Amino acid sequence: MFEGAESNGDVRRTPAANCRPSVESSSGFHDGGSQRLQMLLAGLGAVAGLGAALGGYALLYEPFDVRTERLEVRLLRDRAGLPSEGLTILHLSDTHFRGADRREHAKIAQVRRATAGEKIDLLIHTGDFLHNDNGLENVLTLIDSIPKPRLGAFAVSGNHDHVVYNLKRAPQHTWRVFRAREVEGGAENGALSRAEREESGMARVRSLLRFGRYLLRNHFDGEPAGINDIGRLRRALEKRGMQFLDNRAVQLKGTGTFVVGIEDLLEGLPDLGRGLRGVPDDAPTILLSHNPDIIETAASGRADLILAGHTHGGQIVLPLVGPTYTQTEQLTRSEASGYSRRRTTHVYVHRGLGEGIPIRFGAPPHVTFLKLLPARP
Ligand SMILES: [Fe+2]
Repeated sequence: MFEGAESNGDVRRTPAANCRPSVESSSGFHDGGSQRLQMLLAGLGAVAGLGAALGGYALLYEPFDVRTERLEVRLLRDRAGLPSEGLTILHLSDTHFRGADRREHAKIAQVRRATAGEKIDLLIHTGDFLHNDNGLENVLTLIDSIPKPRLGAFAVSGNHDHVVYNLKRAPQHTWRVFRAREVEGGAENGALSRAEREESGMARVRSLLRFGRYLLRNHFDGEPAGINDIGRLRRALEKRGMQFLDNRAVQLKGTGTFVVGIEDLLEGLPDLGRGLRGVPDDAPTILLSHNPDIIETAASGRADLILAGHTHGGQIVLPLVGPTYTQTEQLTRSEASGYSRRRTTHVYVHRGLGEGIPIRFGAPPHVTFLKLLPARP
C-alpha cells in the first residue's frame, strides 16, 4: 500500500498408455509414427483453440468488462483550501468513440450503471474523447448518462481529439520518424558514423537494433491522416457544462482548490507555466494532462494530484512482460496505469474506456472514483 493512499478498489492417460501398438500398420507406416502424428495434430489443435479463445476474449469480452475502481489519497502537504470532507472525483479517459454504436452503447450502458446514484463533486475526462468525428454523438450520450457533478466538469484534449491516425501505416511511419530523428540527432552530436550514413550492411544491422530499442521505448505511432473537429467537440461539451482547460486554471467554487488543464503534449501547444499563472503556490492543485509524461516538467511538482490517461494501461498485458505498449517515456511499465507518486505529487493514470485497436487483455476499461482528502493533521 502506498503512503498517503488507501485503495479499496474492486479494483476485485491417454488410453494408448495401456496398449502397445502393433509393429506395422497395413499401410506400411509404423504405428508409433502415426500416433506421434496424431499427438502433434492434437497439440496444434489445442494451441490453435487456445489462441482463438484468448483472441475472442481480448476482442469480444474484456473491452466491455468495465470495472469500477475506488481509491482515496490524502494531500501530502498541508494545504488550506480543500474542503474538510474532501472531494469525490469521477475520472474518465480515452473513450476513443468513432460511431461504432454497438460497442460504444454497450460501454455507455455500463458506465451508466457504474455511476448511477453516486455523489460526485468533479467529473474529469482526460482526453481522447474521439477516435474520429463520427464518435461525437456517443460522447455526448456518455456525458448525459452520468450524474451531474456538484462543483463542475473539466476536461483536457488528447492527441486523438486533434488528429486521425492511420494505424495500418504505423510501421512505415514509425520507421520514417526514427530515421529522420537519427539523421537529425547524428548531425547534432556526431552519433552516426560515415559508414552508417552510407548505409553499409553492418550499419543497417546496427540501425535495425537501434530501431528495436526505439520501439521498446514506446515509439510506435500511426501516420497522421486527417484532423478531427476539436472546436465542435469543445462547443458541444461546453453546452453540457464541461469546461476545456487549455493551459488554464479554475478555482473550484466555494473552495481554495484549483484545477489546471494542460494542452496535449503531442498535438497541442502545452504551456504549464501559463496554466499555473494565478494559482497560489500553497493552494491545493489538481493537474489534468492527457499525457502522463507531463511529470518530466519541473512545474508539475506544484500539483498535489496529476490525473492522466493516454497509456490505455498498455492495452495488452502479458505474463512476465507486463504492459506491452504504454506510450509513455517517463513512467515505468508498472506505473503506466493506476497510482504512482512523485515526491509530494500523487499521479493517477487511467487505462481508458475505449481503444484505438479494439482489443484489451489484462487491462480492462474502467471508471474511477478518487477521493482527495486533506493532509493528516
Ligand atoms: Fe488514447
